[in-house]
Amino acid sequence: MKFDFDSVRDRKNTFAIKYDLAEKRNKPLDAISLWVADMDFPTAPCIQRALEERAKHGIFGYSRPDSRYYQAVKNWFKSRHDFEIQDEWIINTPGVVFAIASAIRAFTKEGDGVLIQKPVYYPFANVITLNKRRVVNNSLVFKNDHYEIDFDDFEKKIIEENVRLFIFCSPHNPGGRVWKKEELEKVSEICLRHNVLVLSDEIHSDITFGENHHTVYAKLSSQAAQNSIICTSPSKTFNLAGLQFSNIIIQNEKIRNELQTEIDRTGYDEPSLMGIAASTAAYAEGQEWFDEAKKYIWDNVLFTEKYLSQHCPKIRVVKPEGSYLVWLDFHQFTELSDHEISDRILHKAKVWLDYGKMFGSEGEKFHRINVATPRSILEEALQRICSVF
Ligand SMILES: Cc1ncc(COP(=O)(O)O)c(C=O)c1O
Repeated sequence: MKFDFDSVRDRKNTFAIKYDLAEKRNKPLDAISLWVADMDFPTAPCIQRALEERAKHGIFGYSRPDSRYYQAVKNWFKSRHDFEIQDEWIINTPGVVFAIASAIRAFTKEGDGVLIQKPVYYPFANVITLNKRRVVNNSLVFKNDHYEIDFDDFEKKIIEENVRLFIFCSPHNPGGRVWKKEELEKVSEICLRHNVLVLSDEIHSDITFGENHHTVYAKLSSQAAQNSIICTSPSKTFNLAGLQFSNIIIQNEKIRNELQTEIDRTGYDEPSLMGIAASTAAYAEGQEWFDEAKKYIWDNVLFTEKYLSQHCPKIRVVKPEGSYLVWLDFHQFTELSDHEISDRILHKAKVWLDYGKMFGSEGEKFHRINVATPRSILEEALQRICSVF
């Protein structure tokens, strides 16, 4: 490998929430931290160089993306996803969750129902309720070792709850599903039939494994393109979450303008300068680094599976089709309660994972582990977990 993903870097005292929030959140200070979704690898050298150059320049005034950014982002989406974008379709926000919250306010009213599919990335439910909307849940069904959509319930919930907005996690966090085109088509058919706007959160879409191919929701049909907001960001792909920059892609001009007006209402204007510099370098020059990072992550998924099957086969791995987040199933510990399982992981094994029930009650007896970390850290975490079960 050209790039080094094995070396361990100490992230303590770097403002990293994964490490520096332990005390505040009452977590053991010596816990191995594999919860929040960022990587323990330094980003691509080409991105570090771009940031160093900007830092050396020394002037950090108001900034906006220019043609270099637009060209880079368009090339990336064309080559990775066969998705052709026009400059004016892109809105930049400090993050995907910011865009989701803005869309909730722009396209629904207080008290309206917003559809999500639990277990799902918990900020979806948080921003719905914080904006005084109702969470309408179409629970995913766990069968054949993976999650599937219950389409009858999906349509029923839309009708019964008069849903106008669906927040779709595609690929899915925490289940690791990369939805098949046929599944997306069914979603689209139902949403178009009932006039439901689709916000497709595709932040994990670059990280897919093997035969699993991500379909950009807006590529399904011209109707789907006109009825969707596609949320993307280089933050997961290149480990840039702290730089606060995302690309929200909207083809429908009316929807785009309405979302932009809502964003303007928040007072947010120019994006972060370092976010622009890093994203431009990432999309223009980061391919090789990313391909190696993805390979390392996939090897970590396989390592996790093998390690657990050898040392503690009752912990089942829900094999991800995409993302570096792996859903671990502890249901075979029938004698232990959900609380006892999580207590053992955090306080006895001293490994800080994301607790399954945070993603919804469907997440009971699951925990989510982030495998975007050097293998030695992953191995120690798995060793510690196995030793307490
Ligand atoms: C599905 C999903 N959406 C959004 C985010 C966060 O996006 P941002 O930091 O751009 O708000 C995450 C981070 O883990 C995520 O998994």
